Amino acid sequence: MEIKELSEQIFPYVVGIRRALHSMPEPAYKEFKTSKYVFERLKEIGLKPANVYGTGVIADLETGKKGLNVAVRADMDALPIEEKTKLDFSSEIGGYMHACGHDGHMAIVIGLALLLTKIKDKLNGKIRFIFQPAEEKPPKGGASFLVEEGVLKDIDIILGFHIIPDIDVGKVGIIEGPAMAGCDEFIIKISGAGGHASAPEKTVDTILVASKIVSSLNDIVSRMISPFEPVVISCGEIKGGYAFNIIPDLVEIKGTVRTFNDDLRKKIPEIMKKIIYSIAESYGANVDFEYINCYPSLKNSPTVCQFLKEIAHTYLGKNSLVDMKPLMGSEDFSVYLEKVKGAYVFFGGKKGENLSLHSPYYDFDELVMRYAIHFFARAIHNINILAI
Ligand code: NI
Repeated sequence: MEIKELSEQIFPYVVGIRRALHSMPEPAYKEFKTSKYVFERLKEIGLKPANVYGTGVIADLETGKKGLNVAVRADMDALPIEEKTKLDFSSEIGGYMHACGHDGHMAIVIGLALLLTKIKDKLNGKIRFIFQPAEEKPPKGGASFLVEEGVLKDIDIILGFHIIPDIDVGKVGIIEGPAMAGCDEFIIKISGAGGHASAPEKTVDTILVASKIVSSLNDIVSRMISPFEPVVISCGEIKGGYAFNIIPDLVEIKGTVRTFNDDLRKKIPEIMKKIIYSIAESYGANVDFEYINCYPSLKNSPTVCQFLKEIAHTYLGKNSLVDMKPLMGSEDFSVYLEKVKGAYVFFGGKKGENLSLHSPYYDFDELVMRYAIHFFARAIHNINILAI
């Protein structure tokens, strides 16, 4: 049977898995039931799964023949969101939801494992299925821990993916080279003698200092960095104050920095520090500045991308490729790509208008799973034409 027909044949099984996983969302590093469920399915397929870093699961399909060893990774964690979709298979765990589609990601990789097992005789090398906990958990997501545990051992190429809601089903987005931004976090604590708001001259106005800092951080992107460098510095949280007539003794700002250029990523904390400390000093405030490196920028291998584009063009259709620009969002799949060549692919899963990832209403068109399995099975079947 052809790979395409096989992907159609196993589709109802894959839908069942997706729905089961959707109903049992669990947060980062607590994917206990999820992990057990994935483990059981892989065993049923005839593989020998193993747990890695707690809730992570890996399984190898050994063809016994020489060839490139390929890994495919799915993320497992859900989000602390109360689901509002009213789907029959909605979350049964209060306060948590698979609002980023990781349920679909796991179902795709389980379906892929089943399909590839059926055509094992036609494959070469080793295929490793990686189920990774805690993608949504910067600063250190599950990928770093899995790499430390050796999941990339003997692997030549790694493939990752995300279902996204703004592209039609059947379409694929593949970005050659830098595809997603590096993500860092910062925390600024401004402190000083607070006091009565009617007598600011007797206080250190931490609110004013915080405002000046927020405003000046924006000058970094617009005035101190080349307009040809994509950088975002955003303050997402600001906390301080007790009442309308009190100048608080502490204001805390939290935010994120997104970059593509690794050198710039290293320089930005220094620039921020200078600005923050000089403003605080001018107003007599104390300041504490913490900068936390999270995920590096995600760099796809152009060679692997060109190969995958050819796969999409040939097997999913001439118009299946969509033109996608690099994204300022981040993903810890970048950690694997720092060690091994590979690519991160976007599959269209559009279901209605205005559905976004991380929304309590998020859902995707399940047909995307059939396309994704077909695509990856074809890619892995043909991968040995690549000279890596
Ligand atoms: Ni996600």
